Amino acid sequence: MFENATIDLGHGARLVRNVSGPCQEPERIIGADQGADARMQIRTWPSYEPTQLRSLTDLANQLGIAQLLVKDEGSRMGLGSFKSVGGAYAVVELVRRYLEALTQRVVNTAEIFSGEFRNLLADKVIVSATAGNHGKAVAFGARMCGCQCRIFVHGGVTDDRVQAIEALGADVIVVEGSYDDSVREAAEQALRHDWWVVADTAYDGYTKVPVDIMRGYTLIMDEVIEQLKGEALPTHILVQTGVGSLAAALCAFLQARLGEDRPRFIVVESVKAACLQESFLCGHSTIVSGPHATSMLGLAAGEASALAWPALRTGATAFVTITDGDSAQARHLLAIAHPPVSSGPSGAAGLAGLLRILSSETASQSLNINQHSRILVISTEEDVEALAQPSKTAG
Ligand SMILES: Cc1ncc(COP(=O)(O)O)c(C=O)c1O
Repeated sequence: MFENATIDLGHGARLVRNVSGPCQEPERIIGADQGADARMQIRTWPSYEPTQLRSLTDLANQLGIAQLLVKDEGSRMGLGSFKSVGGAYAVVELVRRYLEALTQRVVNTAEIFSGEFRNLLADKVIVSATAGNHGKAVAFGARMCGCQCRIFVHGGVTDDRVQAIEALGADVIVVEGSYDDSVREAAEQALRHDWWVVADTAYDGYTKVPVDIMRGYTLIMDEVIEQLKGEALPTHILVQTGVGSLAAALCAFLQARLGEDRPRFIVVESVKAACLQESFLCGHSTIVSGPHATSMLGLAAGEASALAWPALRTGATAFVTITDGDSAQARHLLAIAHPPVSSGPSGAAGLAGLLRILSSETASQSLNINQHSRILVISTEEDVEALAQPSKTAG
């Protein structure tokens, strides 16, 4: 078990600090070197552009910190979330490996995108079960490669999300029941028809694709370091987690790239689905039973990825939980900030974690968050609701 210190933050939220002493040797699951190929490749895609890193000075002043940086992933490749650098990259890698095995030569992505292998790929089917953002990323990757794509969703997924996935050329199959039922159905059908599964969580015997996804995610932090242009690094970073792939990727990247100079890393979860915080408290990976009823759909996961847990148990400084109300408040603050940042419920969770910590002097002090802190959060998705109803952004 890791030594921890728990601080009650009210409304069911709490902060759990890792007080095991200096961090153990980082788990080099996806170190900087391994991710370098992924980052280089994604930077060559036709739709690639770095997302904005915004410094929200007024909001930083309001919060009593020196700097608030927001990496705005809502505009990533026109897909509304950070997921495309992971899911789409994993699809491309899957296809590349298949073609290399088939042709017995090195295949590069430009050749795949040019349609040179169209005949070999047209009947290949990529599948995934997802409530939204990951499905768009996978559909986007499949379309770039000229493969078919089937995305399995449960009945609770909104029509908007289904239509967004269909617009990228994928077939959407609605499965009765929960998210877990859609995962099971996708896996069964994939096995029966020899389809390729692209899931963003790792488990025993299924790690290659999730590792690719995590390597793709490292691009986000690589861009941040580039965009800082040698300015002081953030002192703290807060990253929201569902299965933890994004946070683990960024945490491992920062450990490998910056070593002792890395920012304090704070994992943010919904109080309804805090599988990483619970795992940390228990000392082993733990499942949090549902229903994971939260408006932060991307964070509604009861079990951490088998790759995320080992990276975060040593790499994270603390685990904080937040309520849907915290997320709503953070979304609002981002929407009225200068410049404004459009952020959905899961997207604003990093800032919500900061607000929750700042609400407690003890918690802030325990993490050394004060007027000298330079804090980075990632707005992981745009505010789709606000796009549908423009009047809401003003509020
Ligand atoms: C918008 C958004 N933010 C954060 C996350 C969490 O990412 P992960 O599941 O890799 O922890 C997700 C996951 O779907 C998401 O959609």
